Amino acid sequence: MKKIIKNGTIVTAADTYKADILIENEKIALIGQDLTDPSAEVVDAEGNYIFPGGIDPHTHLEMPFGGTVSKDDFETGTIAAAHGGTTTVIDFCLTDKGKPLQNSIDQWHAKSKDKSVIDYSFHLMIGEMNDDVLEQLPSVIEDEGITSFKVFMAYKNVFQADDGTLFRTLEQAKKLGALVMVHAENGDVIDHLVNKALEAGQTDPIYHALTRPPEVEGEATGRAAELTGLADSQLYVVHVTCEQAVDAIAKARKKGYNVTGETCPQYLVLDQSYLEKPDFEGAKYVWSPPLREKHHQEVLWKALKTGDLQTLGSDQCSFDFKGQKDLGKGDFTKIPNGGPIIEDRVSILFSEGVKKGRITLNEFVDIMSTKIAKTFGLFPQKGTISVGADADILIFDPTVERTISVETSHMAADYNPFEGIKVTGQPISVLSRGDFVIKNKEFVGKLGKGNYLKRSRYGELTSSKEELYQK
Ligand code: URP
Ligand code: ZN
Ligand code: ZN
Ligand code: ZN
Repeated sequence: MKKIIKNGTIVTAADTYKADILIENEKIALIGQDLTDPSAEVVDAEGNYIFPGGIDPHTHLEMPFGGTVSKDDFETGTIAAAHGGTTTVIDFCLTDKGKPLQNSIDQWHAKSKDKSVIDYSFHLMIGEMNDDVLEQLPSVIEDEGITSFKVFMAYKNVFQADDGTLFRTLEQAKKLGALVMVHAENGDVIDHLVNKALEAGQTDPIYHALTRPPEVEGEATGRAAELTGLADSQLYVVHVTCEQAVDAIAKARKKGYNVTGETCPQYLVLDQSYLEKPDFEGAKYVWSPPLREKHHQEVLWKALKTGDLQTLGSDQCSFDFKGQKDLGKGDFTKIPNGGPIIEDRVSILFSEGVKKGRITLNEFVDIMSTKIAKTFGLFPQKGTISVGADADILIFDPTVERTISVETSHMAADYNPFEGIKVTGQPISVLSRGDFVIKNKEFVGKLGKGNYLKRSRYGELTSSKEELYQK
């Protein structure tokens, strides 16, 4: 059914203005003043902002990791994402060395297809680079529309790839039109520091942070950036946490290298001291890279403001405290890494960013949606409010004051790392391709309604997808 959203203030990465939006056939059909259509449902957005739906470029839903499986799947994870104002997620498809890439992609399709309530896409992990893998990459791009490859520089003996693999992936990405993403930490040095800590009997959660200091993130980030320059390729550094890594990215960008970076809400508002909470509660705050000392937070905010960092991902990878995080009692290396963030990503950025004067309203939209669509081959179909774009829309009340709590969260995990944090602003209604997923804060969507998105090649607009997929 047609809809007209009336009386709201439209905010894009470029503009802020009052206008009505007519939605027809899943798309934005018209933007203008005093629109009328007797056959349309009228949605009153008086007093609210109308943002393009959030795009979360970094999720791990139902992912086997750390001896268990992340708790939120494509059902609970995307419902929670929608409650939080997100209308597209890009999830990481893990791969196994020596096995066909398509097998892994098929597994990811199987677990998402009938569950996702919003549109979704995949990045693909590259763990090795050889003739066999090289041969498969063109079909990953052309048949699956997966145009971003993830290389892990850490998690030794699990996901970690060597520098040769990273460099060859950068070369191939340049050739094929894909973006390379890195988890940048020096896994070999971490492995050594971890062994030393365990030998010394240092087993509490805080040692997770102390054995992965900012220097190992800064070093790996700088290494990946230099290799990107050498390959004349393109790089996106996921979950940047610290001054050392921001400096490495800024230095590469000054040299003209195509290096970009993402940070996550947890690094903007939580800090290393959370890992010292008593009764093993520090395990709730174990991420890799770890939470940092507080002074790094203002460096991250500044980088979002100046553009040395461009995007905000959730790195959603949730585990229950009871039954999952506690696998690491007595040995911090066995604590599953990650947390439930997908629902609060947009609200934290709005409240801590816009409301506290660190970024503008338009920068907020860019960081949580537009720049992500442009980076990952989804623009202008996604990531903006313009005629012809998918009607993925977030109606947001900027005045509501509330306190984040697991009691009111929709994520499946048994705690919320932002428990007790006060935020201003709340998603009220969310539309995915013209249909309500959230209406007046209630979930009204349908399982499996989300479409799998084949993305454009790196740097190309979605209008060029036709050429890519009609071959
Ligand atoms: O701790 C984290 N970040 N867990 C998810 C996996 C990853 O490295 O992104
Ligand atoms: Zn990572
Ligand atoms: Zn420090
Ligand atoms: Zn991640």
